[in-house]
Amino acid sequence: MHYYHDKENAAAYAEMCVGYDAAVQLGVLFNVLPDGAEVLELGSGPGNDMHLLASHYQVTGSDYSPAFVDMLTARFPDRTVMSLDAVTIAADGPFDAIYSNKVLHHLSDEQLAASFSRQADLLPSGGLVFHLVWCRLEAPEDDTELIFKARDEAALKQAMGSAFEILETHSFGEFDEGDSLAILAKKN
Ligand SMILES: C[S@@+](CC[C@H](N)C(=O)[O-])C[C@H]1O[C@@H](n2cnc3c(N)ncnc32)[C@H](O)[C@@H]1O
Repeated sequence: MHYYHDKENAAAYAEMCVGYDAAVQLGVLFNVLPDGAEVLELGSGPGNDMHLLASHYQVTGSDYSPAFVDMLTARFPDRTVMSLDAVTIAADGPFDAIYSNKVLHHLSDEQLAASFSRQADLLPSGGLVFHLVWCRLEAPEDDTELIFKARDEAALKQAMGSAFEILETHSFGEFDEGDSLAILAKKN
């Protein structure tokens, strides 16, 4: 079983995230994407960022963990919540933007490239992706079967291929200065 599919692990993560969200980083998206846009969030987890997105956009929350999908459905009864793998993203779209926070480090390089290719399918030309990623990361010693792979701008650019043009990147600190990167790109 995947780590986050375990209800207890999902509940412990939600508890750890109480009072935490990406309000500062999301300001970048709020500046460029008009209110009312259709936004898909990948790997929403307990939904703290979905809550912020919902105050501006028609947001669809998603996760591959049934435990988080249940949590999101209970927390946002009036919003669309989907069970989606961030690699295959079996949604119909189109969306104006696709967002994630600390999800893509759980994908292998091949999965990340497949995810960006699928994200491109779901966006119109000029559609946006906005992702918050770890660019420095220590994988936990107790093996959880999860992939932990930090990525810098060059690695993300490579995974995006020619489908996207990077518009902005911002370095920020989650635990340590510069351990995280926000990347905004538009579909060519
Ligand atoms: C570190 S948590 C981040 C959760 C949330 N975005 C936040 O900022 O609190 C990683 C999340 O990614 C989800 N996740 C990991 N791999 C995934 C995949 N392949 N497809 C969809 N969700 C995935 C996990 O279930 C979990 O909700």
